[in-house]
Amino acid sequence: AGSLRVALLGCGVVGTQVARLLTEHHDELAARVGATLEIVGIAVRNPDAPREQVTGTPLEPLLTADAEGLVARADVVVEVMGGIEPARTLLLSAIAHGASVVTANKALLAQDGPTLYAAADAAGVDLYFEAAVAGAIPIVRPVRESLAGDQVRRVLGIVNGTTNYVLDRMATEGLDLDVAVKEAQSLGYAEADPTADVEGFDAAAKAAILASLAFHTRVSLDDVAREGITSVTADDVASAASTGHVVKLLAIAERNRAADGTDGIQVRVHPALVPVTHPLAGVRGAYNAVFVEAESAGELMFYGRGAGGGPTASAVLGDVVSVARHRVLGGRGPVESWYADLPVLPATES
Ligand code: HSE
Repeated sequence: AGSLRVALLGCGVVGTQVARLLTEHHDELAARVGATLEIVGIAVRNPDAPREQVTGTPLEPLLTADAEGLVARADVVVEVMGGIEPARTLLLSAIAHGASVVTANKALLAQDGPTLYAAADAAGVDLYFEAAVAGAIPIVRPVRESLAGDQVRRVLGIVNGTTNYVLDRMATEGLDLDVAVKEAQSLGYAEADPTADVEGFDAAAKAAILASLAFHTRVSLDDVAREGITSVTADDVASAASTGHVVKLLAIAERNRAADGTDGIQVRVHPALVPVTHPLAGVRGAYNAVFVEAESAGELMFYGRGAGGGPTASAVLGDVVSVARHRVLGGRGPVESWYADLPVLPATES
């Protein structure tokens, strides 16, 4: 069997877990893929910064600051660095070199996904991003592939573990928002800057990605109406409970009709009162869930761990195995064929 060269971009909470899994399960992954997966380098900003050892084999010899050079000599590029640049340039460069790409970068996909999809389609390489939405939960592939023949009506998601954890702790322990956010940070759920979580930017990015896939159109972060949880008080949470509701930060994407009769979609993120009888009400702690309503499939719910190094690395590894198998077998996964005739309508409550 052959060998595939894997380049890792980023070595934070997720990257170290990806490196650990690739190293610890090297032989078993080789059997599943039909080729060995060899990490040829890990690009980081500062290779000399002290880091925790999480694998039996030290990662230090693999660290490099030359991300561009690393990308040029890889078959599979795994991007877990986050942020728009240099991630976008590096991924476009990877695609141009004919590498398969796996990314967890929701911000980049929400801002500039179509550029990346078009580049991957033109080059005939895979672009997989299961880890970009709801961590370990298989949701990107089900929406992108399994439901591709159905008509999705609505997607309701709890897609940010930090805010779900915070709202849950406010409800059960009466904690203040700030205290609960610090807890979420210490558990490794929060973004480096938790503003992205509590102000709803992280959920809005995921909503844009899900809406794009569910409705076969282009939705960017700017199209998503957004309100975070910073104005939710312990009193709000308690009075919701007294009427049989829980407060959840929901990402909502739905097919709708504007006043002028135009069919389109609306995408928004805001705190919502969820009746305790709805399946989403039972989603506790840092768990995520995505509830999908489709014409023929009916109601579906996808549930699991949406944040943290291990769960996110699980989704990344699944993508790595898929794209690696495609390289071994000479095939590739789904091609994005957008239809741009479904407009994004102004968000209104409905
Ligand atoms: N900060 C994110 C969350 C991590 O809390 O869900 C996963 O994207």
